[in-house]
Order: sequence, then C-alpha cells, then structure tokens
Amino acid sequence: MFFSSSFALQGTNSFLPIKLIFLTVCLLGFSSGLQIGETCSSSPNNCNAGLTCGTCPANGNTRPRCIRIQPLSASSMVKGLPFNRYSWLTTHNSYAMSGSTSATGSVILAPTNQEDSITNQLQSGVRGLMLDMYDFNNDIWLCHSFGGKCYNVTAFQPAITVLKEIQVFLEANPTEIVTIFIEDYVTSPQGLTKVFNASGLSKYWFPVSRMPKSGEDWPTVDDMVQQNQRLVVFTSISSKEASEGIAYEWRYVVENQYGDGGMKNGSCPNRSESPPLNTSTISLFLENYFPDNPNITEVCVDNSASLLSMTSTCYAAAGKRWPNFIAVDFYQRSDGGGAPEAVDKANGQLTCGCDSIAYCKANATFGTCDVPLLSPPPPAALLPGAPGTPQGPGNDSLTTRAVQLHWLIGTFFTTMLLLCF
Ligand SMILES: *[C@@H]1O[C@H](CO)[C@@H](O)[C@H](O)[C@H]1NC(C)=O
Ligand SMILES: *[C@@H]1O[C@H](CO)[C@@H](O)[C@H](O)[C@H]1NC(C)=O
Ligand SMILES: *[C@@H]1O[C@H](CO)[C@@H](O)[C@H](O)[C@H]1NC(C)=O
Ligand SMILES: *[C@@H]1O[C@H](CO)[C@@H](O)[C@H](O)[C@H]1NC(C)=O
Ligand SMILES: *[C@@H]1O[C@H](CO)[C@@H](O)[C@H](O)[C@H]1NC(C)=O
Ligand SMILES: *[C@@H]1O[C@H](CO)[C@@H](O)[C@H](O)[C@H]1NC(C)=O
Ligand SMILES: *[C@@H]1O[C@H](CO)[C@@H](O)[C@H](O)[C@H]1NC(C)=O
Ligand SMILES: *[C@@H]1O[C@H](CO)[C@@H](O)[C@H](O)[C@H]1NC(C)=O
Repeated sequence: MFFSSSFALQGTNSFLPIKLIFLTVCLLGFSSGLQIGETCSSSPNNCNAGLTCGTCPANGNTRPRCIRIQPLSASSMVKGLPFNRYSWLTTHNSYAMSGSTSATGSVILAPTNQEDSITNQLQSGVRGLMLDMYDFNNDIWLCHSFGGKCYNVTAFQPAITVLKEIQVFLEANPTEIVTIFIEDYVTSPQGLTKVFNASGLSKYWFPVSRMPKSGEDWPTVDDMVQQNQRLVVFTSISSKEASEGIAYEWRYVVENQYGDGGMKNGSCPNRSESPPLNTSTISLFLENYFPDNPNITEVCVDNSASLLSMTSTCYAAAGKRWPNFIAVDFYQRSDGGGAPEAVDKANGQLTCGCDSIAYCKANATFGTCDVPLLSPPPPAALLPGAPGTPQGPGNDSLTTRAVQLHWLIGTFFTTMLLLCF
C-alpha cells in the first residue's frame, strides 16, 4: 500500500519530500546489504548478515547469489519450550578446518570438514559441535585420526584452545546453549574433566542427573539459562558417566547412520552404536548427513534439496520426530537455504507445527501458520544481462517460500531505488 500511494503522489507538489522518503528507504535497503537470492560478489561479501555469496556449479547454480549460513534463532522466536523441542545446527568434525596446519607445526594429512573457526561457527548460529578427542603430547588434542591414536599429521589443535573459544562465546551470550558430542579416545584418568576445568567451561555444565532417562521432556531452555547450565556434553565412552559425570551419548541421543550409508535417498537407518531411532525412552535425535569423504565441490548439493528430503525420511524413521541436531560438513555451502533451512524446518515442526520457524504465529494454536504467498522465482543459472542486477533464487533447486519472500523484499527495495533516481 505504501507502494501504490507513492505512485499516486509522485505528480503532486509534494514530490520533493516524497523523493526524500524514497531516498531514505532506498539507502536503508542498501546499507543492510543484499538479500537472499540476489546476485552478489564475494570479495567483499555484499550479502546481509547471516548470508554469504556462493554458487553451486555441481547442480547448475552458477550465478553468484546470497545464500544462507545461519538458521533463525528458534528459541528467541518461540520461547520457553523444553530443550528437546528445538533443532540446532551442528557441524561434523567442527575443528577440522580447511587450510589448517597442525599446532605441532606439521602439515595436516587428514580430510577437512569445515571452513571456519569454532568462534565463527558459533557466531553463525552453530550450536552443536562434534569433536574427536585424543590423548596426545601429554594433553588432550582434537585429531582426525585412525586406530584411536593421534599423530602430528592428524592433530589439529589442543582441545583447550577450542574449549576456550566456546567459553568466551557462552560468557558473551548468556542465553545461548551449546552441545558438544565427543568422539572419545581419551584414556588418561580424568583427562576430559581436567581439560574442561582448565577451559573455564565446567561452570556451565548441564548435569547428567537432570537429563531425562525415560523419554521425558528436557528442562526448558529458560530453565537451563536461568541455572546457567548451558553446556550439554556427551561422550562415546559409557564408563565416563559414572567416573566423570559426562553423559554417555547413547543413553540420551539416537543417531542415524553417518557417511555414505546415511545418504541413500528414502532410508534412514540407525548408526550401529545407536539404539533404534524410534526408541521412545530417548528424547534427543541427531541427524547425520555427510558422505564418507568430505567433498567441498559436491557438498552444496548434499546440503540442499537432498538434506531436506532426508530430514523428512528420518522424521518418519524416528517415529515421527524431527531431528534436534542436524549435522553436516561445510555448513556454509548450499544452493540457497542450505542446512539453516533444514534447521528452520525442523524448528517450525517442533515448536509450532509449521514447515518453517519463520511461519510460526505468536500465541497461535499448534499448526496455525503464516505462510507468505509468493510468485515463482527467476533462474539460478548465470544469464547474460547487467552484472549486479538483483535476481531471485533459482527454481531448479528446492528453495523455500521464505527464500522467495526475501527475494521479493530485495526486489521491492530495488524498485524503490529506480523510482528515486
Ligand atoms: C611432532 O611434532 C613435534 C613438535 O610439536 C616434534 O617435536 C616431533 O618430532 C614431531 N614428531 C614426528 C614423528 O614428526
Ligand atoms: C574440576 O573442578 C572441580 C570444581 O572446581 C573440582 O572439584 C575437581 O576436582 C576438578 N577435577 C579435576 C580432575 O581437576
Ligand atoms: C543399528 O544398526 C545396525 C546396523 O548398522 C544394526 O546392526 C543394529 O542392530 C541396529 N541397532 C539396533 C538396536 O537396532
Ligand atoms: C521401530 O522401528 C522398527 C523398524 O525399524 C519397527 O519394527 C518397530 O515396530 C518400531 N517400534 C515402534 C515402537 O514404533
Ligand atoms: C569431489 O567430487 C567430484 C565429482 O564427483 C570429484 O571429481 C572429485 O574428485 C571429488 N573430490 C574429492 C576430494 O573427493
Ligand atoms: C528422493 O526420493 C523421493 C521419492 O522417494 C523424490 O521425490 C526425491 O526427489 C528424491 N530426492 C533426491 C534428492 O533425489
Ligand atoms: C503472547 O502471549 C504473551 C504471554 O501471554 C504476551 O505477553 C504477548 O504479548 C502475546 N503476543 C501476542 C503477539 O499476542
Ligand atoms: C522454473 O519453474 C517453472 C515451472 O515450475 C518452469 O516452467 C521454468 O522453466 C523453471 N525455470 C528454470 C530456469 O528452471
């Protein structure tokens, strides 16, 4: 309505003030950067916060456009639910950053799974971290190794470095909750406890005694925040629950198969260590979706339509429950909505019964959704035309209505700009 009344006023004497209003709106639109789906440049990245400029040539998306790297903050949109009524973006081998050299000084001869630091991941909304911990050099290290043993060429960095990054984040963000999944090769006595103590993270510890053991709801996120029990930690070694108070993952979490075995369309089997996905006495479900060999050029395809499709498959396999954690490689890569879109979807379903957390209505009954009406988006492929001309998200991929809404908002601002000058 603002749009059409502006048109009507353009021919009148009030043209100048109107033009100023237009200018202000245009500048605001521009200073906030480009919206999802708009054609962008990556150096410098001119996309809005929570987005990056990317392509996905592996599925024909050659036009550089703003894609999502950050899920919506579900617990601030639908407040106060139990911890297990939210879904959290999770990075597989969170510490295995491309281009790292080992803190031993050695080159790294292990595959890498992510492209940014733990601090950066946390700032992008990642809330689940998968860390492989080993005894190494009289300390605990993050390694991507084999045979349960760490070597210089597979050792990324001492665990304390990353744990301190998490500590700094929790200190600075007093309403955020972080979950760590430890693939645990540590055999030194109290090894994990010592390193968590030394990192300053012990004070945020969510105690095992408060974890539901028979399929009940977890405490609410508000309660976890109020008690400052904002760090949830799981280990893969059962005895550490009694000896160190670290929760044994398979008592509290089910997981589907990771690697290639977990990427067969239409099937979502449990991983061998995990109880069946539909086990009703376990309240949390983690969905793995990444191949055996991380592949930085193919991952944008995996993290798009097929991830959404697998999330629905796993929902059915898990006895109609949406994943609380969605774990991927290279979480910033996709052809549009990516892993953040899958997390928003799970959060919509978990919190309000809608297909995205973006569609939840305040105080509405479960399943009452606000889904925007949208027109079809323009193509994903690079087309001849003015460079930098904003274009919408492609429709060869599964992009959401929310994505298209953002694109429409971008188009609106561009139209305003054209009307201005
Ligand atoms: C591993 O790195 C350390 C330096 O941190 C070095 O002293 C040691 O010799 C290296 N070991 C091997 C087997 O290269
Ligand atoms: C860890 O810190 C707690 C609390 O400060 C302390 O009671 C415990 O002895 C420490 N454990 C180790 C192994 O350092
Ligand atoms: C989980 O899957 C494995 C196959 O990977 C199977 O052998 C095992 O029986 C399953 N576990 C349960 C408890 O069903
Ligand atoms: C759980 O899934 C298995 C198949 O994986 C099925 O046989 C079983 O009946 C299911 N259990 C429940 C409680 O739904
Ligand atoms: C990634 O996948 C592409 C296409 O399937 C293949 O050519 C390439 O070798 C793979 N790279 C790695 C590191 O596996
Ligand atoms: C997976 O299979 C379903 C049908 O079972 C199909 O609709 C969907 O497009 C497939 N997804 C991918 C990514 O191949
Ligand atoms: C929703 O309910 C809360 C608490 O009852 C209230 O404070 C809030 O204003 C309501 N929001 C809307 C949009 O009605
Ligand atoms: C977009 O989708 C429409 C209908 O679904 C189709 O006719 C059109 O060719 C598609 N465009 C591209 C570039 O894929």
